[in-house]
This record gives sequence, C-alpha cells and structure tokens, in this order.
Amino acid sequence: MLTQAELKQNVADAAVEYVLPFLESDTILGVGTGSTVDIFIDAIAPYKDRFLGAASSSERSSARMKAHGINVFDLNQVAEMPLYVDGADEIDHELNMIKGGGGALTREKIVASVANQFVCIVDESKLVDCLGKFPLPVEVIPMARAVVARRLASLGGRPVLRDGFITDNACEILDVSDFSITKPAELESLINDIPGVVSCGLFAIAGADVALVSTQDGVRRLGKASS
Ligand code: A5P
Repeated sequence: MLTQAELKQNVADAAVEYVLPFLESDTILGVGTGSTVDIFIDAIAPYKDRFLGAASSSERSSARMKAHGINVFDLNQVAEMPLYVDGADEIDHELNMIKGGGGALTREKIVASVANQFVCIVDESKLVDCLGKFPLPVEVIPMARAVVARRLASLGGRPVLRDGFITDNACEILDVSDFSITKPAELESLINDIPGVVSCGLFAIAGADVALVSTQDGVRRLGKASS
C-alpha cells in the first residue's frame, strides 16, 4: 500500500515525464503551489538547464525554485507558456477544480491563464464525483470581508474567515462550506461578480486540460489523450 507521500512522489515524477518533451531553451514553465508542487519542483530541478525558467504562483514556490537555481520570471515578462503545472484540493471527472487550500488561488489563476495547457497533479484522494466537500476558498479585499460573507451566505454557503492568514496579495480568505456545486462554472461566475471578491477557488470556467492522478495502481491520465 503506497503512502500519500509516495503517491505524491509518483505523480510528481509522472509530471516531469509529461513536461520534458515540451521543454526548449526558451521555454518558461508555469508552476503552481502546494505540497505536491513542492515535490514536482524538486523533481524538475535536475532538468533546469533544458528550459529558460519558470513563472511562479507564490512566494513559496519562487523561493523553492530559486534555491534550486531555477530562474523565476516576473509574469509581466512572459507572453506565453506551454504548460502550467499545479495541484488541486478537489478535481472532478470534467476536470473542474477547487484550489486555494494553500491560499495562492489568485496568482494560480493568473499564471494558469497565460499557459496553453493546465496540467493538474493530484493523488487519488482529490478525485471526486461532485466538488464541494472541501471548503471553497474565496480571496477578498479586507474591507469587503463582511459584505462578501453575507452574499456568499445568500448563495447557500457558510463562509468562515481563515483566521490570521494574509495572502501574497495582502488580502484575506473566506473558506466556504456547504455549497452544493452542481454547476461549477455558473457558481464561479456568480462569486466573481460579488464586489470585493479578488478571486474564487473554483477553476471551472477554465479547468484543467490534463489531470495526472496518482493511484495505488499507477498514475492515470485524464483529459486530453486519456490513457
Ligand atoms: C494552493 O493554493 C492550492 O491551490 C494547492 O494547489 C492545493 O491546495 C493543493 O495542494 P497540495 O498539493 O498540498 O494538496
């Protein structure tokens, strides 16, 4: 029986195999945030001379990549990326995701939007039939915390402030339980439209293109070129 750490290592290694054919001397790779991505960063580091560098979705990932000698580019310098690699807190079979458990959702959404392909790397505990068991993170401007919380409650959610947590954008996170997320893209739009919301941890309007899912029987690929 593989442990969760071993499952994460396996999917990180599979992600490196997936990524390598895309790497050229001028390639910038989009890199997400989280414990699975940390392992991916360590696994891709030996290949750092095969690509130009990375655009990062958090201070945490930037620091880890710089420690490996991977060049980290400001996103404003990057016009195009073939791939963005990131984890998820939940992913469904249509490759809609909940992200933001680590609080990096806004930068993740921005960096992902520049990439041609979103490659989601997860262990099988994250694969669900319906999103919503994991509380949905919503990043808010601090002065709007209360009004946004009331609006989220009126949509059927139960928002709780992530106590003492400040994002890389100097904002706050409301973690919203009790949503039944049957139409993820619709809910994402509704939340995006609330004044004071910076971004919402639903990645459904633009979900993943490929998911690498680490199981006891190996790493499954979902989405484009499923196998
Ligand atoms: C970070 O804000 C999140 O979106 C992460 O991608 C997500 O929480 C997955 O993290 P783990 O790989 O640590 O589970």
